[in-house]
Amino acid sequence: MNQRPTLTVDFAGLGIPPGSYALPTRGSHDNYDRLERHFTGDLPLSDLAPADIEFLRDHFAEQVTEHRQQAMNYLRAKVPRRFAAAHPDEQATAWAGQFAADRHSVKSLLVIGPTGVGKTHHAWSVLRAVAETGTQLRWQMHTAADLYAGLRPRDGEDSQSTFERIANAHLLVLDDLGVCKWTEWVEEITYRLINHRYEECLPSIFTSNLPPKQLGDTLGGRVASRLTEMCDRIVLKGDDRRKGGAK
Ligand SMILES: Nc1ncnc2c1ncn2[C@@H]1O[C@H](COP(=O)(O)OP(=O)(O)OP(=O)(O)O)[C@@H](O)[C@H]1O
Ligand SMILES: [Mg+2]
Repeated sequence: MNQRPTLTVDFAGLGIPPGSYALPTRGSHDNYDRLERHFTGDLPLSDLAPADIEFLRDHFAEQVTEHRQQAMNYLRAKVPRRFAAAHPDEQATAWAGQFAADRHSVKSLLVIGPTGVGKTHHAWSVLRAVAETGTQLRWQMHTAADLYAGLRPRDGEDSQSTFERIANAHLLVLDDLGVCKWTEWVEEITYRLINHRYEECLPSIFTSNLPPKQLGDTLGGRVASRLTEMCDRIVLKGDDRRKGGAK
């Protein structure tokens, strides 16, 4: 069957998360010609009849469900056991909705707060919320320390391609930023990574237990300045939840 490119469907207007979808075929709808004019960009969604729009929503619904299941399976395969039950709160769900609607204009997140308040938990809950939207994407989640360890030059390892894969992820979570020993090499890698994501408007979720005033001193002015512009801050407060007395 001849399937047309999906790029011209106004998925955002239909409230359907980004992804690649099979279009309806000729014969599946009474007024296919009108749909076709939408697919070829001649007719905006707003000029389609309500019945056309309902037809399109129904047509894509099954594929959205399938994408959601795939995204949830991917998440389940990756999430560490401790955070498997990290469910999104309203804020995380709202962010995921914005991300699904337009991943290049959503602001990145900087989740800060002292040890044990739930920063990593929050980051995983956002990844779950994104999976629940059914958006087709590949995200990456790394602690900063693991990231640097994986990027250290080694014989036989192409650390540049690893860097590019991480730097270009549709969504990157970098946990524990600024926690490890801050050498010149670490600063340079961090700058290159964050600058790339900043320039390409690629969303990221950073967590750090550095107090806000220390971010610039530790990460360097250039990194801190970019984080300030690209991120909304989520400040988590409270006790260390790992301690018995935590609420
Ligand atoms: N909202 C929450 N509901 C239930 N449990 C939570 C919540 N947030 C965090 N926890 C639990 O509290 C513990 C500490 O959370 P987490 O590891 O996310 O803290 P953190 O802020 O990342 O700490 P650190 O700065 O040491 O990395 C974990 O066992 C986590 O599962
Ligand atoms: Mg953590």
